[in-house]
Order: sequence, then structure tokens, then C-alpha cells
Amino acid sequence: MANSARALPPLLLGLLLMSAPGALGANAGLVARITDKGLEYVTREGLVTLQSELHKIMLPDFTGDFKIKHAGHGQYEFHSLDIRSCELLGSALRLLPGQGLTFTISDSFIRVQGKWKVRKRFLKLQGSFDLQVKGITLSVNLLLGSQPPGRPTVTASSCSSYIRDVEADMSGNLGWLLNLFHSQIESKFRRVLESKICEMVQKLVNSDLQLYLQTVPVTTEMDSFASIDYSLMEAPRATAQMLDVMFKGEFFNHHHHSPVAFVAPVMNLPEEHSQMVYFAVSDYVFNTASLVYHEAGYLNFSITDDMIPPNSNIRLTTKSFRTFVPRLARLYPSMNLELQGVVVSAPLLNFTPGNLSLAPQMEIEGFVLLPSSVRAPIFRLGVATNVSAMLTFNTSKITGFLKPEKVQVELKESKVGAFNVALLEALLNYYILNTLYPNVNDNLAKGIPLPLLKHIQLCDPVLQIHKDFLFLGSNIQYKRV
Ligand SMILES: *[C@@H]1O[C@H](CO)[C@@H](O)[C@H](O)[C@H]1NC(C)=O
Ligand SMILES: *[C@@H]1O[C@H](CO)[C@@H](O)[C@H](O)[C@H]1NC(C)=O
Ligand SMILES: *[C@@H]1O[C@H](CO)[C@@H](O)[C@H](O)[C@H]1NC(C)=O
Ligand SMILES: *[C@@H]1O[C@H](CO)[C@@H](O)[C@H](O)[C@H]1NC(C)=O
Repeated sequence: MANSARALPPLLLGLLLMSAPGALGANAGLVARITDKGLEYVTREGLVTLQSELHKIMLPDFTGDFKIKHAGHGQYEFHSLDIRSCELLGSALRLLPGQGLTFTISDSFIRVQGKWKVRKRFLKLQGSFDLQVKGITLSVNLLLGSQPPGRPTVTASSCSSYIRDVEADMSGNLGWLLNLFHSQIESKFRRVLESKICEMVQKLVNSDLQLYLQTVPVTTEMDSFASIDYSLMEAPRATAQMLDVMFKGEFFNHHHHSPVAFVAPVMNLPEEHSQMVYFAVSDYVFNTASLVYHEAGYLNFSITDDMIPPNSNIRLTTKSFRTFVPRLARLYPSMNLELQGVVVSAPLLNFTPGNLSLAPQMEIEGFVLLPSSVRAPIFRLGVATNVSAMLTFNTSKITGFLKPEKVQVELKESKVGAFNVALLEALLNYYILNTLYPNVNDNLAKGIPLPLLKHIQLCDPVLQIHKDFLFLGSNIQYKRV
């Protein structure tokens, strides 16, 4: 083995290392999919931005000489050019498989107003003009990538813009004169505008759009110790039908980010296109959450007598246990008990089509609280319960709710002889239903936020449960500020 590895040419070894994540089964924990319908919406919103940016283009002044029969030489100058209106039509954002997207507009229209000046020896004249720029087309490729630490990137490449026709209309005393060489002026305008449009679009993509894409969080803090790693696992993947963005989707403890012992499943996303975006959230997201909270002792609990309702027919005192565990009351007369519970291992969420469940295994240790404030262990219980889980979606978060069934209690070890655990079972059911799960549910109600761009809201969500993952379809809304 060692010999053959050493014999591998370095390049081949490099390739092997590069493909290692895939080979080790590093799948995305969360996939965001944008459909054609989503791209159409993005196009409409993008146009509003582009249109307002076009208004801000500063067109340069330009000057030139003219020479007309009988009139002779002179100089003209165009200045104070201002885009008065623009109508962008035939726009589309299409998938560019393997690279990203192509943005095009066609047959669009801009109206420019400005002032002209003409100097011819001692003669100085001025007026205004109106410019109709017709049949504007633009095509720009948006290459999507990712950069450390897993942020999306976009670069504009191969921008081309073409203007079919420019018509100038001059007014003022010598307007007729300028109209004589309008074709010369018009072609100059055309060239200037063509390059300005691409310049503006490239700047818009490489700075504004790039910054906007980076509003997707790389990590989202949940609370004082847990965060979700939403770094991109690779560049967004464009195919002929959709754009998929692969996020790691892993919960971690921000005090010690330890590697996870299991991998995210391969998700076979259903072919659905009726909504703008889809999120596939694998069990990996939920199970790494479970792991982090379990490791932090979040699922440890303790029950003492003061937590038992006054009307309960069993109390956590040795006296109350007298009838069914006589030895306990004899050995420790009139003392209080404490039950300490742990969930044995991080409970995993089971996904079956249409249903979610978990089956946490708990272990509860019973102690006598001695007058010396030392705790003497006396018995150990195994507690099994089936829990059904409901997940819902609320604006930008997946929220959960757990509904436990009755627990099954088994006596695993006892220092005071075997005893019937039925009474303890009632007490535990009471505690679990009224204290433990309500606490957990309060936290689950805070929800897991999805990795969304700033100002994006999800609406009309539809949630499906598939084998290994949650599939959320939704439309999006960009909230302008
Ligand atoms: C939770 O309880 C277990 C068992 O008693 C213990 O080993 C662990 O340290 C506890 N965790 C925390 C964070 O309290
Ligand atoms: C889902 O769970 C409910 C309640 O536990 C059960 O009635 C139903 O049959 C389950 N559905 C599937 C598809 O397993
Ligand atoms: C949990 O559900 C399984 C399957 O329905 C069943 O066999 C098991 O007894 C249940 N466990 C408890 C503690 O209710
Ligand atoms: C959704 O979340 C908001 C704020 O977090 C909350 O006020 C509202 O009750 C939630 N709605 C549902 C249906 O859970």
C-alpha cells in the first residue's frame, strides 16, 4: 500500500486528494434549488434595479469638427447628456450549464436629452437635442463560483451590447445645420453608449451583485453555543433545468467544532418546477443539531420533589416509596429523592415519507439526598419513548414541535431490591409531558433559519417529507427598502 502510494505520480495524487470530499461522501446537508420560474422573478426584479442604474449613467460630453459645403469648418460640443427614460424589454436570465447564467435584453429603448453648442469663427450658437436610442441588445454571462470560506461569487464575462439605431433631433437656431451631419453624430453616440452599457453592467455585477450574493450567511448563530455552518460546498451548479446551491448545513458548537461521525445522505430531489425555489434539508442538519445539543448536556434533566404537583399520589420522598420499596424507607427514613435523567445518545430524527419521528433512549438514575448533602445512588431506570415530530415553515425558519407518546420504564439496576416501576412511570409521564417537552418545544419554536439572501422572503411554502430529507417549495419576494 505504502509503496504504491509513493509510486503515484504527484499529479495523480493531487487529483485524488482534490476529489477526496466526494469520495468520502461529503454531500450537502442543504440544497437550495432555483427553477426557471424563480429566474423569471429574479429577472423582473433585476430589471427594476438595472433601469434605475441606467438613469445614473454619466454620459461624457463629446466634441468634434464639422465641415459643410458653403458653410465651412466649425466645432460642435454635446454636453449635459441625461438619460430621461428607458424601457428595457425582452429580458431573460437563462441557465448557462456548467457556468452560471446568461442575462440578455433585446429591443430596448432609451431617450437621452442634452445640449449642443456650435462654434464657427466669431459665431456661437447653442440649443438642445433629443436622442432616441432604439433596438438596444445586451448579453452578459454571469459566472458563478465560490470562494473561501464558502461564499458565492459572481463575475461578469463576455459582455456585448449593440444598438440598432440612434436618432438625433436638434432644436435651436442652427439645429438644421447639425441635422445635416446627424449620421456622424449618431454613430458616435452609438459607440459611446454601447461601451457605457457594458461598463455599467460589469460594474453592477462585479461589485453590487457580488456584495449582494455575499449576504447569504456562511454561519448562522443559533444561541450562545450553537451555530449552523452554511458554507458553500462547491460553486453553484447550473444545469439546463435549474440552479442548485449546495450548503454544508451542519450544526456545530462554536467553542469546539468537532468533526461529525456521520455523513449527509445523497438526496434525490423530486423534479418539481411549479415554485420559484426549493430547499432540500437533509436529516444531517437536524441530526448534527441533536448531536451538538446533546453533547452540551442540553438534554440532561433532574426531577426533585418540589417539581411534583401537590395532588400527586407519589412524591419523591423515601416515605412515599415505603409501600412498594420497603427497604428504601428502612435504609433512608424521611429523606428526599432526586431523579437524574440523561438521553443516552443524541436522538436521531427518522424520516419516512410523510412522517417524522424519533425514539430517544433515556436513562434515569435515582438518588437519595442524604442529610450530609451527599447523593446516594439507589436505582437506575431505562426509559423508552416514541416521539412524533412535526415541522412547519414560518417566514424564513423551519420550526418544530415534538409530541411524545407514553414512556415505557424498565428497572435496570436497584440497590433496594426489585420494585414495580408503574408508579414512577406515571410520574415520569407527567414530568416529560408537562416540563421536559414543553421546554424542548419552546426552543424548537425558535426555528432553524434557512440560508437566504438579504431582503428575500419566502411565501406560499409547501412542505413535504421524503426519505432522509425535508423538501420545501416556495415562492420568493424581494422586499425593496
Ligand atoms: C449530562 O449528564 C451526563 C450523565 O450524568 C454527564 O456525564 C454529562 O457531563 C452531563 N453534561 C452536562 C453538560 O452537564
Ligand atoms: C404517520 O404517522 C401517523 C401518526 O403516528 C400515522 O397515523 C400515519 O399512518 C403515518 N403515516 C405514514 C405514511 O407512515
Ligand atoms: C415505539 O414504536 C415501535 C414501533 O411502532 C414499537 O415497537 C415500540 O414498542 C414503541 N416504543 C414505545 C416505548 O412506545
Ligand atoms: C411565525 O413566527 C412569528 C414570529 O417569529 C410568530 O409571531 C408567529 O406566531 C409564527 N407563526 C406560526 C404559525 O407559528
